[in-house]
Amino acid sequence: MVCAGDTAKTATATLSPFIALHGSCYKYIRPYRARLGSLRARAPLIKMSAEPTKDEWSDRVKALKTAVSNIVMDGDKDAVTHPRTLKRYVEAVRRSPLANQAEFYVLDVASAAGEPGLTIAHAFPQARVSLTDYSPAMLAWGKERTQEQGLTDRVTSAVANAEHMPEIRDASIDLVTCSYGLPFFDHVKGLREFRRVLKPGGLLLATNWARADEVDLGLILKEVAHALDPDAAPPLDACRLGDIPSFKQCLTAAGFDHAEVDIFNNPNGFVPGKAAEFLLHSSPLVPFLQKLESQGQENVQGRARTAVDEVLRKHQYLQPDGSVQFDRTIAHFYEARASHQ
Ligand SMILES: C[S@@+](CC[C@H](N)C(=O)[O-])C[C@H]1O[C@@H](n2cnc3c(N)ncnc32)[C@H](O)[C@@H]1O
Repeated sequence: MVCAGDTAKTATATLSPFIALHGSCYKYIRPYRARLGSLRARAPLIKMSAEPTKDEWSDRVKALKTAVSNIVMDGDKDAVTHPRTLKRYVEAVRRSPLANQAEFYVLDVASAAGEPGLTIAHAFPQARVSLTDYSPAMLAWGKERTQEQGLTDRVTSAVANAEHMPEIRDASIDLVTCSYGLPFFDHVKGLREFRRVLKPGGLLLATNWARADEVDLGLILKEVAHALDPDAAPPLDACRLGDIPSFKQCLTAAGFDHAEVDIFNNPNGFVPGKAAEFLLHSSPLVPFLQKLESQGQENVQGRARTAVDEVLRKHQYLQPDGSVQFDRTIAHFYEARASHQ
């Protein structure tokens, strides 16, 4: 893991556990990003960005919703983010001085469908929350959930790149949250931005997946990709920040003190017959498979399907009823303070 001059590419969009948008969606992002200029100087609360209208986006969000509804998390079938993760955000805020403040400002980075920002807004009526994400399609989902939950008076949303958020003033935010977002962009740049926008002593709460050998899905993605083409560059490694000492060093280098980590497990799985659909159509394998197809490899989808089945069987993830159970999705919940210097 690198803490200076990191070269990690901004990844395709993903949702927990590892849902991905097709890279092709990103050609539509630029016009929305251009709107960020108008948001400058209005921090801390960011204005609602326009709803994306492209058919492709709504199709993509529909596919993502289907994928999420097929994930089973401790019996909570409709959860967008694992309840065990969300609980940690709420508890950390409850322990902090923010819980006693009359008002506090939250910047939720890489919020996708709006988490953990919406959960925090529910738990703390004094929280004013800005949901941000690089992907307008994801953000539209967060906005939809904000409306459904009746939180539009205190929760806004805006397209923003975590690596560079000029629309947010220095030292204007009390709490930055980033749940399973940092592996998908340049974490060094992102952490520096989090530190810049936080007030001195402000709180950073972030979750990362552990190393790939501690996350069943990470292992599967690697093995399927290797079975298809051992020489190809592997798909996006959502577990790349899973080494705790290295990530703590990154926090210190970015200007955070008192970093603490809580290691926990989010077992999850898929309803019968849906794991392969997720892996082939909504995970970081999607751009990987597209690349193999563009290189002229034959029957990529068919071979991928076979590889997925073999890997699921080999590791005994497949249950007799056709459902898939992942027992290990180890995650790291970090709590750190922006230094006073
Ligand atoms: C796994 S999802 C986040 C899930 C969400 N926070 C939750 O806990 O349910 C990762 C998100 O990172 C976003 N993302 C990727 N690159 C980004 C960037 N440079 N800036 C902001 N968001 C980014 C993706 O669009 C995607 O929605």
